[in-house]
Amino acid sequence: MQRIFSGVQPTGNLHLGNYLGAIRNWVRLQNQYECIFCMVDQHAITVWQDPKDLIRNTREVAAGMIAAGIDPEKNILFNQSTVPAHAQLAWIFNCVARMGWLNRMTQFKEKAGKHKENASVGLFAYPNLMSADILVYKATHVPVGEDQKQHLELARDTAQKFNNDYGVDFFPLPEPLIFGAATRVMSLRDGAKKMSKSDESDYSRINMTDDADTIALKVRKAKTDLFPMPDTLEGLEDRPEASNLLGIYAALSDRDKADVAAQFAGRQFSEFKAELVDLAVSVLGPINTEMKRLMDDTSHIDAILKKGAERANAIAEPIIRDVYDIVGFLRP
Ligand code: TYM
Repeated sequence: MQRIFSGVQPTGNLHLGNYLGAIRNWVRLQNQYECIFCMVDQHAITVWQDPKDLIRNTREVAAGMIAAGIDPEKNILFNQSTVPAHAQLAWIFNCVARMGWLNRMTQFKEKAGKHKENASVGLFAYPNLMSADILVYKATHVPVGEDQKQHLELARDTAQKFNNDYGVDFFPLPEPLIFGAATRVMSLRDGAKKMSKSDESDYSRINMTDDADTIALKVRKAKTDLFPMPDTLEGLEDRPEASNLLGIYAALSDRDKADVAAQFAGRQFSEFKAELVDLAVSVLGPINTEMKRLMDDTSHIDAILKKGAERANAIAEPIIRDVYDIVGFLRP
């Protein structure tokens, strides 16, 4: 069976972008692939995390995945730091990937901003750890949102270079799986910015933990323009905020964007937003309730993650042993 690996950083609230771009797709893929889903706590500390928050967020992301419909029995759910092979392979990839490749990563440029000299070394080397996450399981497919595409290209280049350098056919070249009507959900305040956990305005995103009133308020306040819904998608080309809300509606209702535009053609966005609120609450409400229930019993979540770590280690350990042999690390 083909194998999936994907991860989420436990750096704050899960939001609608994480759900529509990634987690919801994972729920659909879990019956077709062997799946490994990870709370990437080692990635999280590439920027400062309060230790107590990191623990809480790790559990909360796990709760979010389970509440969204990921079956923790069938799939492997665990947190990255419990499987040492990720960091072991990441070091080897630090020595395979080239500085020039990492210098081209747009996410580093965005996150480091003007203060590049002050960014952690880990933030720069982040994509190598991500390649290791995937390849330490020889995963063949990686379902992610659009923003991770460049990192996946780097993972493929690294796998290829490792195979070439050592004259082996060891790592597969993992394929990205990017699909759905909302592969890049934008901020509710600015259609040019991605919806993200790190945006300082909470009104920019819908969190998976938001209650119905908060969702309603955020959707009502979401930026739009003065024009009504056009009847075709061409009419949305220079209207990023309107286009984003339409994409959210389409993804939440599992329909085509064009189909939803035709339904609301000529109507004002105030009307459209009212229906979007109902839809969002009907989809996210039950997930939210289940997340809260799961978070009330952290020992249950911890037991799931512990079992997941055992299963993940059982796959990763023989692979990293083979890598060590290929590289020429003596096993005295
Ligand atoms: P992270 O934690 O930023 O996001 C988790 C998943 O959510 C997707 N996503 C979005 N999709 C659509 N619109 C958005 N606004 C949006 N924001 C986030 C992301 O694409 C991702 O699929 N580097 C990764 C975590 C990671 C990983 C991996 C992923 C570490 N190792 C190995 C895959 C394979 C990240 O920061 O995701």
